[in-house]
Amino acid sequence: MPQLKVLITGVAGFIGSNLADRLVKLSGCKVIGIDNLAYGVREQVPEGVEFHKLDIRSKEIYPLFEKVDYVFHLAAKNCISDCQADPVETADINVTGTVNVFEAARKAGVKKVIYAESSAIYEDSSVIPTPESEIKPVSFYAASKAATMYFANSFEHFSDLRFTALRYFCVYGPRQDYRRTIPPVMSAFIIKLLKGEQPFIYGSGDKKRDFVYVDDVNDFHLLCMNEGITDGRVFNLGSGKNYSVNEIYTMIAGLLDSGLTPVHKSDLPGEAQQTLADITNASRIGWRPKTEITAGLKNMVSFIKSEFQKGNIK
Ligand SMILES: NC(=O)c1ccc[n+]([C@@H]2O[C@H](COP(=O)([O-])OP(=O)(O)OC[C@H]3O[C@@H](n4cnc5c(N)ncnc54)[C@H](O)[C@@H]3O)[C@@H](O)[C@H]2O)c1
Repeated sequence: MPQLKVLITGVAGFIGSNLADRLVKLSGCKVIGIDNLAYGVREQVPEGVEFHKLDIRSKEIYPLFEKVDYVFHLAAKNCISDCQADPVETADINVTGTVNVFEAARKAGVKKVIYAESSAIYEDSSVIPTPESEIKPVSFYAASKAATMYFANSFEHFSDLRFTALRYFCVYGPRQDYRRTIPPVMSAFIIKLLKGEQPFIYGSGDKKRDFVYVDDVNDFHLLCMNEGITDGRVFNLGSGKNYSVNEIYTMIAGLLDSGLTPVHKSDLPGEAQQTLADITNASRIGWRPKTEITAGLKNMVSFIKSEFQKGNIK
């Protein structure tokens, strides 16, 4: 008999499928997954997960929350350029869909919802490293994530449902989405170099990002299930170190022993010059990002190589 029932929305996506992998290996843990496969991939959902192809905006999700202990709400429309192109759908999925998940959890008497906000919420802040208090969203994506925070606060106020909000910085690792119009830099670089093509860098490549490895993020997910100290709180999840796009390029080209040089394209509008997480709050409860960038990149490279071999990337 399972002692613990966990539901993950966005289970076919990058972070959701990695979390499901980790949870199905815990003894006595039953994992239910929801995803409408808008961006996610069915084959990424690990064996052992009870998978439901459903939209988080649908009332059909409600029965799945019965007797669930913890919900990880990760489903979202999250490609910033797609969100800029369609603010109405962004609000519909990221705000209305999220409120539907919160309400399903409240009605079913779920113990706690752990949900994804984003470091994008700090877009207009110049405080580096950035603490959780610097809420200054600009883009539609960031605004939608900020709106969910206010809804979580209201649910917390008017019900027994508990929440932990997670502000991920740039999460990387195997299964990072590479199918987007503008994929995240690491997967984009690795795929192009493996194909023997010159990767693109938008702008000078001097922009710095705080990259955090997905296994380290999963360590924090488990803490949220076990530690009441995370209840009613928000945490930055970054590594507390940042690297420029050019530095990342050099590391990946080195790992692949490639002499190809990148092609510089015009800068993408509205992107911050640097992101860097202040991880004091997460560190105080015992979390430490352990994965060094080169080790994390090596894992990503071998994952993407195996995707090529399986014919999943052409
Ligand atoms: N990856 C990062 O670096 C990062 C950074 C900040 C915040 N986040 C947040 O973390 C969460 C997970 O991100 P990810 O990188 O795994 O993204 P992802 O796109 O790989 O996964 C999101 C999943 O949600 C699903 N989804 C989208 N709309 C849906 C809907 N209406 N109903 C059901 N499923 C739907 C998609 O099909 C996809 O599988 C998201 O909320 C994202 O905004 C991620």
